[in-house]
Amino acid sequence: MRCEAIVLAAGLGTRMNSAMPKVLQPLGGWPLLRWSVEACRQATGEEPHVVIPPEADEIRQAVGGEVHFVVQAEPLGTGHAALQAAGALNGKSELLLVTSADMPLLTSDTLRGLIEVQQANVGPVTLLTTESDPPRGFGRVERDPRGKIVGIIEEAQASPVQLGLKELNVGAYCFRAAWLWEQLPKVQKSAKGEYYLTDLVGLATASGQPIAVLKLADPNEAIGINTLEHLAEAEAAIRRRINRELMAKGVRFLDPETTYVEAGVRVASDTVLLPNTHLQGETVIGSGCQIGPNSILRNAQVGDRCRIEASVVEGAVLEQDVEVGPFARLRPGARLGAGVHVGNFGEIKSSTLGPGVKVGHFSYLGDATIGKGVNIGAGTITCNFDGKQKHATTIGEGAFIGSDTMLVAPVNVGAGARTGAGAVVTKDVPANTLAAGVPARVIRKLNPRD
Ligand code: UD1
Ligand code: MG
Repeated sequence: MRCEAIVLAAGLGTRMNSAMPKVLQPLGGWPLLRWSVEACRQATGEEPHVVIPPEADEIRQAVGGEVHFVVQAEPLGTGHAALQAAGALNGKSELLLVTSADMPLLTSDTLRGLIEVQQANVGPVTLLTTESDPPRGFGRVERDPRGKIVGIIEEAQASPVQLGLKELNVGAYCFRAAWLWEQLPKVQKSAKGEYYLTDLVGLATASGQPIAVLKLADPNEAIGINTLEHLAEAEAAIRRRINRELMAKGVRFLDPETTYVEAGVRVASDTVLLPNTHLQGETVIGSGCQIGPNSILRNAQVGDRCRIEASVVEGAVLEQDVEVGPFARLRPGARLGAGVHVGNFGEIKSSTLGPGVKVGHFSYLGDATIGKGVNIGAGTITCNFDGKQKHATTIGEGAFIGSDTMLVAPVNVGAGARTGAGAVVTKDVPANTLAAGVPARVIRKLNPRD
């Protein structure tokens, strides 16, 4: 049976007390909404329909893939939100999965389970329920003395006895589609002035139809986001899930609780992640690496057997066997060849370092191309900015740059050349010569053994 999904994401999220729309709040490196969109896409094999508020360009951009958007002009409740998708969906599929953008931890396996239960149900709807303490403001599932579901009571409307009910509505449902579109317009406005999707359960039982239930196996999946406190709880749960998946693939963590890996990151086996390491964005790490402690990698590509200690690496590409840190900063456009070493207070931006280049201490290399085996002495700086424009520096293979050399770009240092300590290089240095002084001038030719 074909099943399509509706993700409700048009609520106001007032309980967050934040100027940012709730569904855009970051969770595990993705905007909140993306978690439920991905889970629905995997569970149904179709692009979900996402109900959003008007003028929500930011929300449209935040979702990966080709989802369908449906606009709810006014936030008149979850029932009203689902009804807005009728035009796009009525008559298209037998089943409809409905879930909320603020339930990001529900997995595709759980949603698939919900669909399977409904496929076998003669009644019109399957509910997902859980037992959780605290109840986090969830609707209570009310059953009659024989255990048959009577309805869902929203917390705001619940009597003290109903508030004590342990079974909670998680807020994900699978409906027989024809029944949903027929019944939704019948839902009455609540005392709060909203149309509740949950009232459909009462409508079904009132007409004697059986409601099926799937109980959540892992109560962590029921962490819904209504407040920033819930968001922090969800962050911890997502972190544990991501880290567990990596450990199962052979990534070693010294302390998973203090290692922060975002959803889009890939790490190969036999890499060790040390505490207070943050792997963000589309970072990819090879095998046999040691990352951390105290490192931030954002959109970084790291080859096999690299070691990065107490450093920040953003938008940089590292080939294999590269050693970085402690206290180095690699910025976008840095490309480090095999076996490169960047030590303390090395900063590299938009520069290519050939295999085996050493930048041991206190250096800035920007807009530079540096050949194989070059040694960059302590304190070397490419003076790449003249106040208006950036200029390039090239250093040929095997050159030796003396400590505290200023390379005033644009400038080229030839292969095998040397600069003396403190040289201010304003003119090109030919290959295999030694240049020294301020401004630097060639003082002699070098023979290959120098
Ligand atoms: C809802 C359920 C509650 C359940 C809980 C689980 C209803 C009436 N109640 O309560 O039984 O226990 O979820 O998480 O459904 N939304 C819209 N348009 C609107 C209102 C809401 O798109 O007009 C979206 C929100 O963006 C959100 C979702 O629907 O993603 C749920 O809305 P929310 O206000 O968070 O409902 P809860 O109070 O959490
Ligand atoms: Mg909610």
